[in-house]
Amino acid sequence: MAQKNLFSNYTTKYKIFKNKDALSPHFIPPKLPYRETEIESVVGLMAPALKREKPSNIFIYGKTGVGKTIVARFVSSELLDICKKEDIPLYVSYINNKIHDSKYRVLVKLLKDLWEQEQGYFEEKGVKVYDSGTPPSIIYETILDFIDNIGAGVVVILDEVDAVRDLDSLLYTLTRANDDIGSGFITIIGISNNLFFKKNLDPRSKSTLCEEELVFPPYNAKQLTRILRDRVRIGFKEGKVDDSALRLIAAMAAKEGGDARYALRLLKKAGEIAETTNARLVKVKDVEEAKRRVEEDIVLESLSTLPDHQQILLLALSNLSMNTQQGLLGEKRSYFTSGEVYEEYKKTCKQLGEKPRSMRWVREYLNDLDMLGFISLRFSGKGSRGQTRLIELGEDPEKIRECVLKSLKITQ
Ligand SMILES: Nc1ncnc2c1ncn2[C@@H]1O[C@H](COP(=O)(O)OP(=O)(O)OP(=O)(O)O)[C@@H](O)[C@H]1O
Ligand SMILES: [Mg+2]
Repeated sequence: MAQKNLFSNYTTKYKIFKNKDALSPHFIPPKLPYRETEIESVVGLMAPALKREKPSNIFIYGKTGVGKTIVARFVSSELLDICKKEDIPLYVSYINNKIHDSKYRVLVKLLKDLWEQEQGYFEEKGVKVYDSGTPPSIIYETILDFIDNIGAGVVVILDEVDAVRDLDSLLYTLTRANDDIGSGFITIIGISNNLFFKKNLDPRSKSTLCEEELVFPPYNAKQLTRILRDRVRIGFKEGKVDDSALRLIAAMAAKEGGDARYALRLLKKAGEIAETTNARLVKVKDVEEAKRRVEEDIVLESLSTLPDHQQILLLALSNLSMNTQQGLLGEKRSYFTSGEVYEEYKKTCKQLGEKPRSMRWVREYLNDLDMLGFISLRFSGKGSRGQTRLIELGEDPEKIRECVLKSLKITQ
């Protein structure tokens, strides 16, 4: 009898994925359904670059996961391709402003991208890629000289542009550059999903950034279904995703604001769950489990970026919510006064060997946590001692507690 390999249970029979990379956020799909008009608009607006004229600056706005980044990257790579073929000196710099979040950092990244695309030129001029310490004026002049000497067109994609701290100054500098050069141009594609950003923009910056404006609408459930189906075809083996599971993912993501990233994340997680349980195919129950886990991951991701003491405060609040009973039936109480929260916070700090911050700090933290949606703050009706602030956790206390413990690496 042929010997069975120890690993044979883990191989082909129940494998779900064909190409898991196709579900990662970095994957660029061959088609972008439902973004045809948006793509056409960006192409139309960028087309003057082929005549070596400066395209208008474009501002792309829309909720999270509606294809803004992918469309900008796709169109700019097509533009780059055709310019290479036609011998037009065009350069694209994609800058994520969550990472490069100041004017200085943006200029450094822009110079680095240009350097990478035209090393010969910069080496001949003896230019090194600077990281820090070089005066901004030198970086700016180096970029300008390059554009002027080559007659280069430069497309700067500022993704998550609302994250730039000195945006007015950055926009002013990039626009002014066009007056300081004899040939070539810098044009900006700004992208944001922040609802309040445009409203609060300085009027001059607004008219610079928003010469042309495109709003990307959210996807509905039917559109998400098609997007998911395309991705299933590339990422999964045939017949491995039950159609009702796929439609459930689309419905869930449509409810979350038409977010394709969330949909793809659910699909990937559901596939992983099915694979580790050796299931034959992805079913509705895997999607339900995937939703629970993805939500937890999302809370954990945003929670772990908070300062430690805000996390401790959330831990204190989750302890209160889990342990405080009220009424004769002993139901759990969910609202607490700032005094109660502060007492529990001090207790938690002591347990963790941390020095508690003052009440004044804690009040600030509570405001921050309220803004971020982790808690909700409201005032009680007028009582004998006037208005009292009441604090409630925005998420399930057990979930928050687990996430904080994980994030702060506390073992209990
Ligand atoms: N029309 C589409 N067809 C196929 N995949 C899409 C489509 N639109 C978006 N996606 C996919 O959904 C994910 C999110 O898209 P993208 O990163 O472009 O969102 P975004 O609008 O930039 O969101 P955010 O504001 O959060 O950055 C990506 O993985 C992308 O490949
Ligand atoms: Mg994006």
